[in-house]
Amino acid sequence: MIEIKNLRKSFADKTVIQDVTATMKAGQCNLIIGSSGSGKTVLMKCLVGLFQPDSGQILYDGKDFVTMTDEDRKDIRKEIGMLFQGSALFDSQTVEQNVKFPLDMFTKDSHAEKLKRVNEVLERVKLVDANKKFPSELSGGMKKRVALARAIVLNPKYLFCDEPNSGLDPQTSLIIDKLIQEVTTEYNITTVINTHDMNSVMEIGNYILYMYQGNKEWEGSNKEIIFSKNKRLNEFIFASDFLRDAKEMRMLEESGKIPEDRNMDDMIK
Ligand SMILES: Nc1ncnc2c1ncn2[C@@H]1O[C@H](COP(=O)(O)OP(=O)(O)OP(=O)(O)O)[C@@H](O)[C@H]1O
Ligand SMILES: [Mg+2]
Repeated sequence: MIEIKNLRKSFADKTVIQDVTATMKAGQCNLIIGSSGSGKTVLMKCLVGLFQPDSGQILYDGKDFVTMTDEDRKDIRKEIGMLFQGSALFDSQTVEQNVKFPLDMFTKDSHAEKLKRVNEVLERVKLVDANKKFPSELSGGMKKRVALARAIVLNPKYLFCDEPNSGLDPQTSLIIDKLIQEVTTEYNITTVINTHDMNSVMEIGNYILYMYQGNKEWEGSNKEIIFSKNKRLNEFIFASDFLRDAKEMRMLEESGKIPEDRNMDDMIK
């Protein structure tokens, strides 16, 4: 579990994270959503220690990541897996070498043990016969699988994914989302995902934090988001008139008050 308490971060005189309090639970996908520039990446970078917050607390299973000793922070870092936007694979290294990299950095395992672990995680993300390939030979979806394999190779307790679906088609996005969800529940990982993708929100959003101009504007689950009355959130998720009408229909249907003369043709202008 990661607890964020009254977190603030500014650059020069610009406050980017205003005062955010949220709890990311273990074994579930915790999504951070919001329009471009709302502070998702800065928040995530504070959580993993790439940015130092101005004030507030980040508690990793009760321990304050901001004020703990460098030694303790290093120990937590070893338990963090990160899937960067754009996958960030090493172009000159094979799939196998890319996935093995964290093991080379953080373990003293033998070469054979490392290869065994690499093959386990590549199998886990359903990527076979790609060990000797270079990133340039892979599709976007395959690259994300390699990046996910690398992020989980050290058995992380905490997994951070910044826009894991960027550049992928909706079907491939869904496959990656499901994989992240499966490993999250299977290994009881506290997973935090930055996304713009409403499909992801509906498919895997156990907990959703909606950011608006550096503030927590709304929080809830994918079951609650459809019925939210928050105006800014609704403008964000139902960006088109069509989706807004579809939501209205869904709410009328739910309450049993759907007018007989309403149909999809009325909604598509
Ligand atoms: N290193 C930095 N120095 C100064 N300002 C920064 C820095 N990093 C981010 N910002 C500012 O912080 C704000 C939030 O940026 P952030 O990258 O967190 O947005 P985001 O929600 O992740 O957007 P996107 O959806 O486009 O990725 C922006 O106004 C950005 O210009
Ligand atoms: Mg971002």
